Amino acid sequence: MSLKIGDQINLTIHDLAFGGEGVGRVDEFVIFVPFVITGETVEAEITEVKKNFARAKLLRVVTPALARVAPECKYFGACGGCQYQHIDYAAQLRFKHKQIADLFERVGKISPERVAPVLGCPSPYGYRNRIMVRSQWNGPAKKLVVGFIGINNKFVEEIEECKIAEPALNEQITHVRANPPPKGGIKVVLRVQPEGWEVPKDSFFQNNFFLLPKLVETVREFLQASGAKRLIDLYCGVGFFGIEAAGVVESFVGVEYDRLAIAAARQNAAARNINNGEFISAKVEAALPELLHKFSAEKTSVILDPPRKGCWPETLELLRQTKPAQVIYVSCHPATMARDLNILCADGVYELERVQPLDMFPQTQHVECVADLRRRN
Ligand SMILES: C[S@@+](CC[C@H](N)C(=O)[O-])C[C@H]1O[C@@H](n2cnc3c(N)ncnc32)[C@H](O)[C@@H]1O
Repeated sequence: MSLKIGDQINLTIHDLAFGGEGVGRVDEFVIFVPFVITGETVEAEITEVKKNFARAKLLRVVTPALARVAPECKYFGACGGCQYQHIDYAAQLRFKHKQIADLFERVGKISPERVAPVLGCPSPYGYRNRIMVRSQWNGPAKKLVVGFIGINNKFVEEIEECKIAEPALNEQITHVRANPPPKGGIKVVLRVQPEGWEVPKDSFFQNNFFLLPKLVETVREFLQASGAKRLIDLYCGVGFFGIEAAGVVESFVGVEYDRLAIAAARQNAAARNINNGEFISAKVEAALPELLHKFSAEKTSVILDPPRKGCWPETLELLRQTKPAQVIYVSCHPATMARDLNILCADGVYELERVQPLDMFPQTQHVECVADLRRRN
């Protein structure tokens, strides 16, 4: 197929890939187009040609899918934050489920039946409690632009309000715009503090309060099903999972390298009169060997909630060798999660019981997953 930049083509969309782009084909040659839906026929213009695939921009939807809806945000398509506002929310959940099931089957040979339907967010707009506003000097226009990184991933798009952010953050955006940072390239993090949790300014907290009860319920349910008595909560932040699950186990320990987050975790536990846990300020890689040595493997469950890049191979290898009864893997990055699950399950050391996806990030390409892994005897 000899496609070139600027060619205009008609395409039928067969799938929605991770990242949100639709997949079409011309003579078996794959073409990615954003802002489309599986089953649609569209007119698109080629913008990039690589050896094995091309990219195109959407010109016109010829046959719209039933799931197509009007986006709520006027910046949709220009701002880089959302990919799915043109898709009805129930359909977004179905597409995310298929993406996760396909990925786990491909990377980890995991049966799609193990992947539960995606739990939706009760508030598919106005849910984000943390956003990062950026500023950039626009030379030709001679003005400071304040907003979010645009779809091109290079320039900041001028934004006055964000439809997926909590209303309180939109008030803060107005304030940042009225008092812009003096130079370009500045990032300002705006957040709504969670009620009842101590969270230092730069420490992590889950970004969607609306679906948080379901996330906790899922982790608790997995933990209870294993019957584990001890919990090691790795990458514990301000102690969120350990504290929420404290009543389900005899004792727990949280590990986190952000020292301020650990100090907050101790306060968060004390404020709830939780006395069966301790918090260690250390790198997971450094603290884990001793913890696994101390606790009996048959009674121990380990929560892994690493950053997007996933776990260190050494951490996974240590778990494979010491074999705690259960590993609960929580992740907002299904690709690195699938890679790590594959390592844990290699040679039948662990078996995946179930994956529960939760839509902590409606309208966007992202999705949270919780996996329940059990040691095989
Ligand atoms: C996705 S957050 C999870 C936080 C917590 N589980 C929660 O739900 O609020 C990942 C956390 O891992 C911490 N972290 C990253 N790499 C680490 C490492 N090597 N050792 C210990 N903590 C680490 C980060 O500081 C961050 O708080």
